[in-house]
Amino acid sequence: MTMLPSSAYPPLPAIAEEARSAYIRRFGHPPRWLSVAPGRVNLIGEHVDYNDGLVLPVAIDRYTAMAAGPSNLDATVIESLDKTESLQTTDFQCEGQPAWAAYVLGPLLLCQQHGLHLESFKAIVASDVPRGAGLSSSAALEVATATLAELMCGQSLEALEKARLCQRAEHEFANVPCGIMDQAASVASRANTALLLDCQTETWTNIPFGQSDVCLLIANTNVRHSLADGQYAKRRQECDLALRLLGKSSYREVSSVALESQNLEETLQKRAWHVVREIARTREAATALERADWIRFGQLMNESHLSLSEDYQVSCAELDTMARIAWDLGPTGGVFGSRMTGGGFGGCTVSLILTAHAATIADALQQAYHQETGIEPEIFMAMPSEGAWGIDCEPPQKS
Ligand code: GLA
Repeated sequence: MTMLPSSAYPPLPAIAEEARSAYIRRFGHPPRWLSVAPGRVNLIGEHVDYNDGLVLPVAIDRYTAMAAGPSNLDATVIESLDKTESLQTTDFQCEGQPAWAAYVLGPLLLCQQHGLHLESFKAIVASDVPRGAGLSSSAALEVATATLAELMCGQSLEALEKARLCQRAEHEFANVPCGIMDQAASVASRANTALLLDCQTETWTNIPFGQSDVCLLIANTNVRHSLADGQYAKRRQECDLALRLLGKSSYREVSSVALESQNLEETLQKRAWHVVREIARTREAATALERADWIRFGQLMNESHLSLSEDYQVSCAELDTMARIAWDLGPTGGVFGSRMTGGGFGGCTVSLILTAHAATIADALQQAYHQETGIEPEIFMAMPSEGAWGIDCEPPQKS
């Protein structure tokens, strides 16, 4: 948890204010604790976090927020802002709870196992991270919950430990065998930076980004994706099998040249191609970012999309359409690069664009995409934001 002097907290996002107001309406007094965790957009390095790769996500200014206070009952009560989702529990177990509860109760149970002593509480949860859109709404909820647990216990988890704990919650309670990128991005991002995360060593650096005339445009195809439907797990298994057949213990030991001389079955060869080249692309993209070489960065994004579509086969017709419309505008139209982001099979594209052209590009994407697919997309700019933080509204008085 970021421990800052209260004056140094980032301004509370609107969604956290909404959670706070809803808490007051629901319980009749202000919340004691507020936790905020961002979603993320991945710039490049897709489907390589579980393959020891490099990834380059950015936390975005879409957040999950929790407003909470102690409960004088035995039960913990958690409700969503619009009251459509609620749960009540005395032991934080997931059995008999709605599916979304895994992302809250999972981290709470693991925090308890980690030695955080949790008492019952009441909370309102609110989020403006689009769900099932590849922007890590699940990780934002897990990390907001873990941050709340830290606040309630007055105990901080170390950043990597916290990201791992939330990743484990997703594995064990939501049954998605995800990598560590989303949780790490939600925990460890800094405002106006991208997070270069090495998933082999689980170490990161925050590379400055977001202070210039370029920005990120997110286009939600409004085709929903679900990582729990088996395709994500299948890709992981294929990658593991290809690695075994290559006789290596990590994709970091596999070179493009070595891969060319291998005789893997076609599907496995394609998966391995994607992983090895995507890691190389991400390394190069990080350098391009440091040099503000937007042309090269954009080319790498485009190559990444093609590889995800053709070799890794996790794109879909709508994502390909949205990316192609952006590519057609090209650098002269203000678009340096565009690609699908996140797990795939639907969700969003991310484009690196000239800020001055943002409105024209958004209009062009919206109109052409709607014309070609009949679907209304959602298009918005994303600001590189701060990782999760929490506020104790009534710290104990020193005597
Ligand atoms: C999902 C997973 C991540 C990562 C991406 C693909 O978002 O949660 O761990 O594997 O897909 O890059």
